[in-house]
Amino acid sequence: MKIFLDTANLEAIKIYNDMGIVDGITTNPTLLSKEKGNPAEIMQEIVRIVNGPVSLEVIATRIDEIIDEAHKLKKYGQNVIVKIPMIPDGMKAVKKLKEEGIETNVTLVFSANQAILAAKAGASYVSPFIGRLDDIGNEGMLVIKEIVQIFRNYEFRTQVLVASIRHPVHVTEAGKVGADVVTLPPDILGKMLLHPLTDKGLVAFLSDWEKVKKENPQLTI
Ligand code: E4P
Repeated sequence: MKIFLDTANLEAIKIYNDMGIVDGITTNPTLLSKEKGNPAEIMQEIVRIVNGPVSLEVIATRIDEIIDEAHKLKKYGQNVIVKIPMIPDGMKAVKKLKEEGIETNVTLVFSANQAILAAKAGASYVSPFIGRLDDIGNEGMLVIKEIVQIFRNYEFRTQVLVASIRHPVHVTEAGKVGADVVTLPPDILGKMLLHPLTDKGLVAFLSDWEKVKKENPQLTI
């Protein structure tokens, strides 16, 4: 399972990128709106820092403008994946960009049927938003399960990128149903790192080692 960070925050990206646990990044206009500075420069910096795929989203909703924005975003770096909303003109753009060799991530997907169509159009990734489905009383993870199964049945090569993740259990569940990628806000990745028994165990190891050192002052490892 690949782990992407769902953020435009450069500090968080650097911290987790340095740990080697981040395979890529997803951004969107809302995430960029939360950061200080020029959004274009922030996107360029993310693309420079991270080796893996970086999804950058178009703002346009009409085919010609989507293609134009996609070309501009792709100039930021080879690892740019153009993020396109799940709308009819978006599908046309996915098809055209695939013909040009430009990879896409179809965003704002909320059903298996939408995911099938994005895959048919030629998307490299589909992003079903599970947290937003949970928010309205649907079970987001069931949609992921359906998409994974359908893509397997027909050997679709489009990767299932689980988005709108709200807590670490979403990540475990996504892994169990066989999703290809999860994209997480940095605070959730932080929570995944921690366990109280790890902290407690480390305190005990360190204090026991202090006792050993008192008895053997010359000891080093
Ligand atoms: C995915 O690519 C989106 O950026 C993101 O996961 C949306 O999550 P939200 O529902 O928390 O805004």
